[in-house]
Amino acid sequence: MDFTETTVLIVDDEKNTRDGLRMSFEDEFDVYIAANISEATEILKAEVVDVMVTDLRLGGEDGMELIDQALKMPKPPICILMTAYGSVDVAVDAMKRGAYDYVGKPLNLDELELIIKRAVRNRSVESENVALKQQVDKRYGLENVIGESQVMSPVFDTVRQVAPTRATVLIEGESGTGKELIAHAIHNLSDRPKSKLVIVHCAALSEQLLESELFGHEKGAFTGASERRKGRFEEADGGTLFLDEVGEIDSGTQVKLLRALGERTIERIGSNQPIKVDVRVIAATNRNLEKLVREGEFRDDLYFRLNVVKVLMPPLRERREDIVLLANAFLKEFAEENNKPIRELTGDAIQTLIDYDWPGNVRELRTAIEHGVVMCNASKIGLRHLPPFLKGESPTRLFPPPAGDSNSTGESAPSGENLNLAEMEKHFIRRALDRTGGNRTEAAKILGISRRTLQRKLKEMDSDE
Ligand SMILES: Nc1ncnc2c1ncn2[C@@H]1O[C@H](COP(=O)(O)OP(=O)(O)OP(=O)(O)O)[C@@H](O)[C@H]1O
Ligand SMILES: [Mg+2]
Repeated sequence: MDFTETTVLIVDDEKNTRDGLRMSFEDEFDVYIAANISEATEILKAEVVDVMVTDLRLGGEDGMELIDQALKMPKPPICILMTAYGSVDVAVDAMKRGAYDYVGKPLNLDELELIIKRAVRNRSVESENVALKQQVDKRYGLENVIGESQVMSPVFDTVRQVAPTRATVLIEGESGTGKELIAHAIHNLSDRPKSKLVIVHCAALSEQLLESELFGHEKGAFTGASERRKGRFEEADGGTLFLDEVGEIDSGTQVKLLRALGERTIERIGSNQPIKVDVRVIAATNRNLEKLVREGEFRDDLYFRLNVVKVLMPPLRERREDIVLLANAFLKEFAEENNKPIRELTGDAIQTLIDYDWPGNVRELRTAIEHGVVMCNASKIGLRHLPPFLKGESPTRLFPPPAGDSNSTGESAPSGENLNLAEMEKHFIRRALDRTGGNRTEAAKILGISRRTLQRKLKEMDSDE
């Protein structure tokens, strides 16, 4: 830990002590000095002081009084008392009143330095824990997963049951159903909630990058590997690794992953030194892995390793009872975020939300409500504030047409009543390929997906047509 930003205020009426302490500490800490209570309080008011070291006798003044005052400040410093009289009673009294520690005079500088550093370190660990705990409680407990429908109850039951164990969990569900949210909940309800949750989006990386992302590499292991790098497995050691879109992993990496899960060891690329890792794995996929296994795209042995416990996220259209609940929660969230006094949705709007099929599931609903909040200046969100697709109107274009070409030959975005997500996807894939003259790598970049995912999607498009 670096202490050069740590502010230490030294209060002593003797000039020699002040100067001596300043000289010995100024390389280590950011040091201030004061000769009496009023000088000290001025500094305490002007600066955030991390540690105050004060003498008990300050001329005619009492160092204990200064400590009392300092501890009443909004951000009180850690207080350490110096006393020449070695009186245990005084020291005990000081600690009772809130001082952190005391040192006897003549001073042992090494001892004082150690006490200061230990105090600062303890305090930062404490505040980190508080922050972490708040984060854990607020953001991702199971209570943040909204849903009271029948079909959600097995989800909650399974999560509660499996979270405290080390079992590997496979979360299956369509895009936007809350898989990542559930992964967070499992981690936070586990026996290691304060450890790291490391997330890897498997679809976003090419084969070689994914392998090195997961397992790391040695310097010079492949072209471009200019430094040795730790992989995500090592980073998640002692915690949880979330493998998102695990169905996209290529066959070579599947073999390595299988080994990592079975033997709990990994090897960096370019090394055959096994490294032990203690990692709880959660995987998610929006594809049907069982089907991929049947089609020979995914190893069955890896599937069995991952699928120790399965959590199936139901699509939103199969739990329409939750739509209003979710919509109201998102309304509250975005109204607060945008500082708008919006309280509810109109009856029309609610009915429309319930009737819609939500191919993009909860994420799509959340975005629709955000849109509503932003567009609404009334106290209720009505149908007119909701995005056009809910009203059967044409969507806003994602790819703006080239300048001066608003109405011409180029294929326009599909529109109308029967618009669905799959069609939109095909449309944008074709469009991206057009733009890149058929270059799949470039097209994948434009679309923000990996080349492998693009290839799979093209294969699916072929077989659909
Ligand atoms: N039951 C729920 N309660 C509250 N918010 C939810 C719920 N389910 C999903 N969300 C919210 O919807 C959004 C999408 O959820 P999430 O990212 O977990 O989905 P996903 O299944 O991982 O999607 P993808 O497959 O596209 O990665 C997030 O903002 C999430 O907080
Ligand atoms: Mg996700």
